[in-house]
Amino acid sequence: MKKVIVTGGAGFIGSHTVVELFEAGYTPVVVDDFSNSHRSVLDALRALTSADLAVYDLDCTDAEKLAEVFRDDGHICGAIHFAAYKSVVESVRAPRKYYANNIGSLVTLLGVMQEFGLENLVFSSSCTVYGQPDALPVTEATPLQRAQSPYGFTKQVCEQLIDDLVDAKSPLRAVTLRYFNPIGAHPSGQIGELPIGVPDNLVPYITQTAAGLRETLTVFGGDYATPDGSCVRDYIHVVDLAKAHVKALDWITTQKSEPFNEVFNLGTGEGVSVLEAVRTFEAVNDLKLNYTVGARRPGDVEKIYANVDKARDVLGWRAELRLGDAMRDAWNWQTTLAQRGFAKQR
Ligand code: WQD
Repeated sequence: MKKVIVTGGAGFIGSHTVVELFEAGYTPVVVDDFSNSHRSVLDALRALTSADLAVYDLDCTDAEKLAEVFRDDGHICGAIHFAAYKSVVESVRAPRKYYANNIGSLVTLLGVMQEFGLENLVFSSSCTVYGQPDALPVTEATPLQRAQSPYGFTKQVCEQLIDDLVDAKSPLRAVTLRYFNPIGAHPSGQIGELPIGVPDNLVPYITQTAAGLRETLTVFGGDYATPDGSCVRDYIHVVDLAKAHVKALDWITTQKSEPFNEVFNLGTGEGVSVLEAVRTFEAVNDLKLNYTVGARRPGDVEKIYANVDKARDVLGWRAELRLGDAMRDAWNWQTTLAQRGFAKQR
């Protein structure tokens, strides 16, 4: 069995990746402390994979507990590290929590991997490491700029840590995936984004507004130097993103054994404005969304979208789903939540 440890496996991207790993013939082992995810996701994953998933409820900064996963489970071929806090806004309010968890969990995982001789790692990073790029679209060679938030800085530090281990000739064969803006949900409506509290991110705020859980969506800024004045992002369907992780793991196992950290942008390659995203949501779901254009949000990058040639040429991966697919699936997920009595998350 090709066992893969998936830290943060009950989270938004982690849960979708568990499904794709299973469908590709891997045996995912879920590790999650459920501090930012729901245990109900596990039932959905068991239903979607019709497998009795192995799940470890633990904090990835706890080396002893994490080592038990490696002891309990037979041949593990790789680890995918999602476990991290991911709110830009919260990281500004609570930086210590972000440094301790996001950096601490990777440091711990890398130590336990070395202890058990596991070399293959897929690391979940973010386009936020680029800051506001000078030239667009960004390639993997685009220089990183000073992070705009503690969250972004933890991603830069984690990437640097992996590079430093490779330079020190540690037995590590890593792929770092820089996500652009993950959105949408599994088309089954069984899993999706479950933000706790008021969503920071655009699409869950849109779907909660459409569902009547929020009064109105505020578009943060209409005076940017973009075609319609609203910020531009590269929105990628979470299922496409999940499939890229399988491709990354497959690719690592075909590489020579010398240490490496290969970085890939994961986006669609297309820039979409907030207002375009809103209009697409309305069109594909035949809905009218209640929104206003308000003040800019501090720290927002004006425009960023990816050059995704490297993932295509090296991993043989490209996004296949469109913005409309993601907006349809996000709304389907929100209506499923309502049917299941999931009102506003805490
Ligand atoms: C997108 C656009 C907002 C909410 C961050 C992280 C990134 C990733 C996704 C984890 C911006 C606008 C939003 C709202 C709005 N994190 N917006 N009204 O900030 O691009 O990226 O989250 O995976 O790493 O950097 O995503 O969805 O918060 O914002 O107008 O109520 O939508 O101003 O232009 P962001 P976002």
